[in-house]
Amino acid sequence: MALRANLPAPIAIDGPAASGKSTIGHALAEEFGYAFLDTGLMYRAFTLAALRAGISADDVPACTRLADEINMRVDAHETTSIFLGHEDVTEWLRSPEVEANVSAYSAIPEVRSALVRQQRAIAREGPAVLAGRDIGTVVLPGAPLKFYLDASEEARAQRRAAQAGGWGAPQRSRDARRDIVGRDVVDSSRAASPLRAAPDAIVLDTTELTLEEVVAFVLDKVRCAAS
Ligand code: DC
Repeated sequence: MALRANLPAPIAIDGPAASGKSTIGHALAEEFGYAFLDTGLMYRAFTLAALRAGISADDVPACTRLADEINMRVDAHETTSIFLGHEDVTEWLRSPEVEANVSAYSAIPEVRSALVRQQRAIAREGPAVLAGRDIGTVVLPGAPLKFYLDASEEARAQRRAAQAGGWGAPQRSRDARRDIVGRDVVDSSRAASPLRAAPDAIVLDTTELTLEEVVAFVLDKVRCAAS
């Protein structure tokens, strides 16, 4: 199909915590038959491995050794699954322990370079959507189509709380907001590959938009870029 052959690839989606990157990336992948790599899950899997091994994020040499030795297999189809050795750890990657520690481990440059190498290799295998914090700026600066999704802290906290079990749970929403803001501060202020919109990214504030509107906007941009 001519249209399919001309589709832009890879596609980068960046943005802060809970800005909808995974949902939109998954929708894009499903629509166009791309692989979807949620790179946040790779940083989460590294964090899980380090916590299990009792390695603190302050111990950079030990984290570097772990980054070199870790056997992380990434299965990127329309969704992303992560294996440590033979174990599918995907369901553990959103636990509170991982959530609370992932920003600290992902600020370590040696950890990032090991995971970025793997992310680029996956992007070379075929058409792919990659979602993260530094995809458009560092991982795939030459990507022909880049999105940067944003939304207010309030909107992101509400969406995250709803994902975790229902609207109207103010306590959960407050906790989600605290986690999100805490991670945003670390992810944006770290020296290595901080969260930034690439200069050539399409920036979309989704605060006032429904999921359907965001999906329609993004699909339209991909089709326009396919000509
Ligand atoms: O997208 P997420 O919330 O699952 O990401 C979890 C953490 O991983 C995030 O707080 C920072 C880190 N991360 C990163 O540093 N670079 C990426 N490309 C993706 C995620």
